[in-house]
Amino acid sequence: MMTSTAFENKTVIVTGAGQGIGFEMCKQLAYRGATVLLNDIDEVLANDAAQSIRGEGAGNCIACAGDSSDKDFIQSMVDLAVEKSGSLDIVIANAGITLFGDFFTYPQDSLYKVLHTNLGGTFFLAQAAANQMRKQGKGGSLLFTSSVTGHQAHKDLAAYGMTKAALEMLAKNLVLELSPFKINVNTIAPGATLTERTMDDPNYEAVWSRITPMGSPARTIDIANAALFLVSDGAKHITGQSLIVDGGWTAISPSPNEV
Ligand SMILES: NC(=O)c1ccc[n+]([C@@H]2O[C@H](COP(=O)([O-])OP(=O)(O)OC[C@H]3O[C@@H](n4cnc5c(N)ncnc54)[C@H](O)[C@@H]3O)[C@@H](O)[C@H]2O)c1
Repeated sequence: MMTSTAFENKTVIVTGAGQGIGFEMCKQLAYRGATVLLNDIDEVLANDAAQSIRGEGAGNCIACAGDSSDKDFIQSMVDLAVEKSGSLDIVIANAGITLFGDFFTYPQDSLYKVLHTNLGGTFFLAQAAANQMRKQGKGGSLLFTSSVTGHQAHKDLAAYGMTKAALEMLAKNLVLELSPFKINVNTIAPGATLTERTMDDPNYEAVWSRITPMGSPARTIDIANAALFLVSDGAKHITGQSLIVDGGWTAISPSPNEV
């Protein structure tokens, strides 16, 4: 059920995409003609997700199970993209873990895990992809999944929020490095989004509906729509930017009559 050809002849890697936001990005890209390498650390989830996209009759979706923060695995994903279709055009470093915890007692292993997955994984995927794109000589697009918590403080998310803010600075730095090769690099910062993970909390939708100006948390398609724009040919002149998709949550602060 391909709906358009906007991404025909584009080969894309999306990490952490067995479910949630990344899965929706893969589905929408495949619907539009892309060859998609769908990565997840959970092999069953990766295979089932890719199979379900193919099953809907949408283009080419290849499961690529492995740890997106492992440098050797990252290189093997880039090599697989090239082997399957001759080039790599778009990379969405979407895998990220959220480990909540009180700052005063936050454990060292949690901090290093969050840094390793959210920052290390994105940094080395960007590096491997940029090297490949530079070799190809026809530009490319990188997109990192950040978060509103990289812009606004959020209780018990000091470590996670710090990694998301750092991803936004990484994108800005890479403007210097990658613009000469016509590779643009942006971040997308989702607000509260309904996914399999967030919906584990039975109060999630009601609470975020109450505190989000637009009256609801995002659906994964809201995030995917914005992401597809940022990696499309239409956004080639946009680079080093962060697009917040949060129903207005970060635009406001508590008013006197609310406290
Ligand atoms: N859901 C939200 O409300 C929300 C809000 C803001 C930002 N984000 C960000 O969006 C991205 C996706 O979040 P989500 O909630 O859709 O996903 P999620 O937390 O449900 O995870 C998606 C998938 O990532 C996989 N994964 C975890 N670590 C991995 C690794 N090292 N390598 C490969 N795969 C791995 C998991 O197995 C899972 O299937 C993350 O970067 C997250 O920080 C999410």
